[in-house]
Amino acid sequence: MKFFIDTANLEQIKEAQDLGILDGVTTNPSLMAKEGIKGTEAINAHYKTICEIVDGDISAEVLSTTYEEMIKEGEELAKIHPNIVVKIPMIKDGVKALKYFSDRGIKTNCTLIFSAGQALLAAKAGANYVSPFLGRLDDISVDGLNLINEIRTIYDNYGYDTEILAASIRHSMHIIDCAKLGADVITSPLGPILSLLNHPLTDKGLAQFIEDSKKMA
Ligand code: G3P
Repeated sequence: MKFFIDTANLEQIKEAQDLGILDGVTTNPSLMAKEGIKGTEAINAHYKTICEIVDGDISAEVLSTTYEEMIKEGEELAKIHPNIVVKIPMIKDGVKALKYFSDRGIKTNCTLIFSAGQALLAAKAGANYVSPFLGRLDDISVDGLNLINEIRTIYDNYGYDTEILAASIRHSMHIIDCAKLGADVITSPLGPILSLLNHPLTDKGLAQFIEDSKKMA
């Protein structure tokens, strides 16, 4: 399973990269705005910096919602770096845009996926990734993991190459459950990734080993 970090924060991206487990980065307009990035020039420069830190797929989301504008914007984003993946919302014009980019070999990530039907449409249109938002479904008492399971079954039934990029991860159990269900990728904030490290018996065991190692000196 691939690990992406879901942030536009350069320090957190560097920390995950230094850990040696990072395969890519996802961003969205909310995450970019949180870092105070404003204007096309600054946005594009920020994506370029991320691409220079991480050698993997970097999702950059279009801000427009019509087919023509998404094509124009996506083509500009794709020019920033070969690792840029154009992130397109799951709307009617977005599906058309996915097909356009797929036909031209530009990688795409279809975002805001909340149903199996949406994931099926995105795969038909040739999306490289679909991003089902687990946490936001859990937030409204709908089982987000069930959606991952449904998409996995559908893609396996027909051999779709589209990768399931589980997004809106809230905690480390989401990551473990996604791995069990066969998600291809998780994209998570840094916290849940680092939480995977923790176990009290590891801490207790290490403290004991350190103590006993003094007897060997
Ligand atoms: O990047 C898309 C997704 O991961 C957003 O997550 O926490 O805003 O629901 P969240």
